[in-house]
Amino acid sequence: MSIRKVLVTGGAGYIGSHLVDGLVGRGYEVVVLDSLVPQVHRSGTWPSYANPKVTYVRGDVRDRDALQPLVLASDAVVHFAAAVSIGQSMYEVDRYVDVNTRGTALLLDILVNQKHHVEKVIVASSIGVYGEGAYVCATCGPQAPGVRPAEQLAARQWEQRCPTCGAELRSVPTPENKALYRDNIYSMTKYHQEEMVLLIGKTYGIPAVAPRFFNVYGPRQSLSNPYAGVAAIFISRLLNDRQPVVFEDGGQLRDFVSIHDVVQCLTLMLEKPGADFLPVNVGSGETVTILEIAKTLATLLGKSIEPQVTNQGRTFDVRHNTADITLARERLGYAPQVSLAQGMAELIEWARTSPDGAVDMFDRALSELEQKGLLVQPTA
Ligand SMILES: NC(=O)c1ccc[n+]([C@@H]2O[C@H](COP(=O)([O-])OP(=O)(O)OC[C@H]3O[C@@H](n4cnc5c(N)ncnc54)[C@H](O)[C@@H]3O)[C@@H](O)[C@H]2O)c1
Ligand SMILES: [Zn+2]
Repeated sequence: MSIRKVLVTGGAGYIGSHLVDGLVGRGYEVVVLDSLVPQVHRSGTWPSYANPKVTYVRGDVRDRDALQPLVLASDAVVHFAAAVSIGQSMYEVDRYVDVNTRGTALLLDILVNQKHHVEKVIVASSIGVYGEGAYVCATCGPQAPGVRPAEQLAARQWEQRCPTCGAELRSVPTPENKALYRDNIYSMTKYHQEEMVLLIGKTYGIPAVAPRFFNVYGPRQSLSNPYAGVAAIFISRLLNDRQPVVFEDGGQLRDFVSIHDVVQCLTLMLEKPGADFLPVNVGSGETVTILEIAKTLATLLGKSIEPQVTNQGRTFDVRHNTADITLARERLGYAPQVSLAQGMAELIEWARTSPDGAVDMFDRALSELEQKGLLVQPTA
């Protein structure tokens, strides 16, 4: 048996649509199930980049009548449909848990109780399952601290400190076996999804992989969704001649990975058994601060707009988290190809000509955070 027909849930979205193009290019037959949620698809129709060789079905992953026939007709399922925003998940708790956790539960219920020929399940997990990244104390060794307390954020002490000796910790790339801490509802649901899929996969012998995406960026990112995708949010501000808003001091370290490298890694997961039954970091292995991202994007767009550094923390943010991609390299032969400079230039080129434009709705998302008390006001 070999994989020929692939179901991609959420395949009209940003990551899914690129994967779909890659799979079609490799000769797979691809079916997409997507409900076209308004926050992501403002037009309410299939996006302009929809692939003519793909079968698109509009429906909700929580609807058994929509999902089951498509699963039973497929050789592999890539489950990407999800509600995708950390901040929003802290006040739309029911929707996030219902779409992400229950949607995945339904998929697994079908796989366990129906006769099927699915040979691989890939479920989108996230950097969020780690909470804080990995750290080292110069004296005490490796550390896995929890989220910083609100008092620490209020005092603008951004860096993590060693729980034993109090010294400032140094951020190091996060391996998959770091202790996991969820500090927001979205990340909890990603953890549920990952754990449930890997458990059912192991129990019933269905090869399953949970890519843990770091900060994925590239063309087709929604420029008008103020809840997710920091690079796109910054671009949307800049295109509207407004300052990108940078929380804390902007020194947060992240791993931005090009969508093209993500597609490479996902294709390897689908076609090779090396990562079966594992969660796998999908990053670039390059490290950059949020402030550098804001500045780079302004330069690339030719705008002399400095970022607005708020010196305010958000209760659910982590200080640093960067990817250790050794596992994907060794088990799958994954090798990122796109440098940050190349990838950001491509993102900008696309954003300038994006058919959907960039509506800056950031202030709305910010005021929601303020109303819910998720922005910590400095004490000094
Ligand atoms: N973009 C990132 O950096 C990143 C990072 C970590 C994890 N992820 C995960 O990767 C996956 C894809 O993310 P993305 O950035 O492409 O997001 P996206 O919002 O662009 O795509 C998600 C798609 O799912 C669809 N969808 C949402 N709810 C649905 C439902 N109930 N039924 C059917 N379809 C539904 C949406 O219409 C959308 O097309 C998600 O599971 C997300 O949690 C993304
Ligand atoms: Zn120490």
